[in-house]
Amino acid sequence: MPDMFDKCATDQGYFGRFRVAGDRFFTLPVIDDLPGPHMEFQGQDNIMWSVNNYIGLANDPDIKAAAVEATEKWSVSSPMGSRMMSGSTSEHLALEKSLAEHAQKEDSFLFNYGYMGVIGTVTSLTGPDDTLIVDKLAHACIVDAAFSAKGGQGGKPMVRFFRHNDMHDLESVLKSVNKNRKGGVMILSEGVYGMTGDLADLKGITSLARQYDARVFIDDAHGVGVLGEKGRGTADHLGVQDEIDIYFGTFAKSFASIGGYSATSTQVRDWIAYNARTQVFAKALPMPYVKSLQIALKKVADGDDRRKVMWERSNHLKDGLRNLGYHIGSGDSPICAVFTPVGDNLEEVAMAMLTYLRKHNIFCTGVTWPVIPPGLVMFRMIPTTAHSEEDVARTIDVFKTMRDDLKIQFPLSDDLMGKITKIFRD
Ligand SMILES: Cc1ncc(COP(=O)(O)O)c(C=O)c1O
Repeated sequence: MPDMFDKCATDQGYFGRFRVAGDRFFTLPVIDDLPGPHMEFQGQDNIMWSVNNYIGLANDPDIKAAAVEATEKWSVSSPMGSRMMSGSTSEHLALEKSLAEHAQKEDSFLFNYGYMGVIGTVTSLTGPDDTLIVDKLAHACIVDAAFSAKGGQGGKPMVRFFRHNDMHDLESVLKSVNKNRKGGVMILSEGVYGMTGDLADLKGITSLARQYDARVFIDDAHGVGVLGEKGRGTADHLGVQDEIDIYFGTFAKSFASIGGYSATSTQVRDWIAYNARTQVFAKALPMPYVKSLQIALKKVADGDDRRKVMWERSNHLKDGLRNLGYHIGSGDSPICAVFTPVGDNLEEVAMAMLTYLRKHNIFCTGVTWPVIPPGLVMFRMIPTTAHSEEDVARTIDVFKTMRDDLKIQFPLSDDLMGKITKIFRD
C-alpha cells in the first residue's frame, strides 16, 4: 500500500535535491551566532545581509534587561494557558493598548507569531459568503490565510487574486465580485513587499475599497518600525493609516523579537480575540516577550536616528551595486533586491554566485525560479542600522569582483528587463 512517508525518501518537495544531499550551505545553514551585521558561518566571519534587524534592535541591552528581569520574575512558562482560559494578564492588555496607540487604532490583539496572526485574523473574520481579494505577490501567510478560511459549516469563501499592485486589475476584480455579491469583501496586501522591497499602492487600494465597499487588511511586517512617522509603517508613510481597517505588524523584524498583532477597532479586535483559532487554541505570548516588547516599541517609536542610518546604508549599497551594472528593485523601502542574469544553466550559475559570495564572506539570500522568472537570480539584502559603511563598501567590492570573475553580462537584456517587469505584473 502507498505510504504517506514514501515521498520523504525522494528528492520531491521544496529544495528536495538539497535535502537529500544533506546540504547545510545553501539551505538550512547552521549559524550559531548572535543576529547582527557580522555572523560566523562555517568558521568564517560573514557580513550578514539576511537578517531583518532593520533598525538594529537585536541584542539591544535595554530590551535584553527587560526580558531578563521578566524571566527572573515569571520564568519562561508564564502565563500558562491560552488567553481565553488562563493566559491573559494585565501586561498583555497594556501592550495591546500601547501597540494600538502606536498604530492609531482603538485596540489590538497579540499573536505568538506573525504567520499565525495573519491566519488567525483573516480566518476568524471570513464567512462562507465572503470574498478575499489577494495581491498575487503577497506573502505565503496571506495566501495560506485566504485558502484556509473555511467560512463556517461547509462553506468556502471565494478567493480572488489581482496582479501585483495593479489597480486596474483590482478594480475589475472588485467589479466582478460585486455583481453577485452575497457577503463581505476584504482586500489583503503586504505594506512593504518583503522579497522585492516595493510598497503596496495603499492609496489606490484604500480608495477602491471605499468605492466598492470592501475592507482592507495590511500585513506590514517589513514596514512597521521602518517607514512612517514614529515607525508607524507603510500606510502612515503614504498618508492612509486611517483608511486601513486592520493593520497587522510582526515583531520578528524591526522589533527584533517574536510575535505579531492586529490593530483595529475595539469591536473587531474583540471578535478576533474570541474567534482566531490560532491563538484561542494556543498558549499566550510569554512574559519575557510581553515585557521586553514594551521597551522595543518605545525604541521603534523613538527610532528616527536609527532609521536615518538604516537609509544611509541602504542608499549607499543600492547606489554602489547599481553603478556596477546590477539591477536594483525598488528604492521605496530599504530592502535591496539585486537582479542578476544567469542565462540558461540557471541552477549552476546561481549556485556559483552564491558560493562566490559566501566564500568571500558575504552572506545573502539567493532567490531563483520558480519564485522569480527563469534567467535571473535575485539576491535579497536587508541593510540595517547595525551595518557599518565599511560593511557596505566591502560588499560592493565583492559584487564587483564577482561580476568580473564570473563574467556576468551587463546591462540586462531587454528580455530579462521584461521578465523583471513581469514579476510585478503577472
Ligand atoms: C510579510 C510577512 N508576513 C508575515 C511574516 C511571518 O512573520 P513571523 O516570522 O512573525 O511569523 C513574514 C516573515 O517572513 C513576512 O515577511
